[in-house]
Amino acid sequence: MKILVTGGAGYIGSHTVIELQAAGHDVVVVDNLVNSSEIALKRVEKITGKEIPFYKVDIRDRESIDRVVHQFKFGCCIHFAGLKAVGESVFLPWEYYNNNITGTLVLLDVLKKNSCKNIIFSSSATVYGNPAVVPITEECPKGECTNPYGQTKSMLEQVMMDMQKADVVSSDPNPWNIVLLRYFNPIGAHKSGTIGENPNGVPNNLMPYITQVAVGKLERLGIFGCDYDTPDGTGVRDYIHVVDLARGHVKSLKAIEEKCGVEIFNLGTGVGYSVLDVVKAFEEENGVKVPYVIKERRAGDIAECYSDPSKAYEKLGWKAEYGIVEMCRDSWKWQKNNPNGFEE
Ligand code: NAD
Ligand code: UD1
Repeated sequence: MKILVTGGAGYIGSHTVIELQAAGHDVVVVDNLVNSSEIALKRVEKITGKEIPFYKVDIRDRESIDRVVHQFKFGCCIHFAGLKAVGESVFLPWEYYNNNITGTLVLLDVLKKNSCKNIIFSSSATVYGNPAVVPITEECPKGECTNPYGQTKSMLEQVMMDMQKADVVSSDPNPWNIVLLRYFNPIGAHKSGTIGENPNGVPNNLMPYITQVAVGKLERLGIFGCDYDTPDGTGVRDYIHVVDLARGHVKSLKAIEEKCGVEIFNLGTGVGYSVLDVVKAFEEENGVKVPYVIKERRAGDIAECYSDPSKAYEKLGWKAEYGIVEMCRDSWKWQKNNPNGFEE
């Protein structure tokens, strides 16, 4: 299939391009490079041995995005483009709503005008808020999002569901097919160690912080709270290898091909690890020390969040193959080989 990948130069997008090409799909990437580097795409080309048509386009720029969409006649769009830093979104709400909401609205309109009404959207487990029960199934009601970033995901899910519903109600002969993928906590990197997550400034997320401590860029990890109601008192999350996550997108094309209407899938492993579990696994697998200190709880954090990923297995035949050992090994290989990210 010919696929438009928005945000394809970013962390998850670049890994997904590899898996799409490996599965024989034709990929075109658009990205404004606000949080990524074209070097990532060059490295992907090296891994796959295939060229990636790339357009430096902001998805809010209707004319430019229309030109690309019109030219290629895509079968589906996989939509990663967006701003994603939770903390930053609290201080820059307008920028987050403008980029994520306006960008997606323009994109949806352009896709519709060009008769490409098939989209796979990067959502997040953050839409569940503080879950009433774990493991979380897709049936679990959405919860309160405590930050503008999370709000954009929740709102965009609603926009797309409403658009699809309108098509059904009006018996549109070419209705939208929409797959909403709720990612749990993606970590890890491609096994080549040439692409990976490259956060700006001091990382907010656990694994990038750990790898930067291990490589000597940061002194020690702060663990946010040790008095949660979890087995060791630290927060429990469902970490998922980014390559497994990428493959989840390839499998989601099956739902699109089967004209799914709206489908929501959790992409996680179903296994929860605590912060201390991750630190220990990282140290053991990589033979490096990660000094840490216990700090106060971080505002907005929850105790436990992990998925029930069985729907994706039943309907798409997808399940995560990698475990915490591979996640720690590949995160470290990327960081160790590229202490300054994509700077060459
Ligand atoms: P990323 O920042 O590495 O990738 C996003 C890409 O989108 C970047 O390359 C950026 O330059 C591009 N972009 C942003 N705004 C754009 C615009 N207006 N026009 C064109 N390109 C634009 O982030 P990621 O970790 O790869 O995340 C991809 C998607 O998955 C995002 O939508 C994110 O919110 C979502 N998500 C990520 C996580 C995670 O933990 N990484 C978890 C849940 C959901
Ligand atoms: C965060 C976001 C979530 C987003 C996800 C992926 C918050 C509240 N949630 O999830 O919306 O979808 O990232 O981008 O920001 N931790 C430490 N020390 C650190 C960093 C993290 O102890 O320096 C702990 C956290 O308290 C948590 C766990 O590690 O228990 C994972 O944290 P993180 O990687 O930031 O992911 P989430 O908070 O789950």
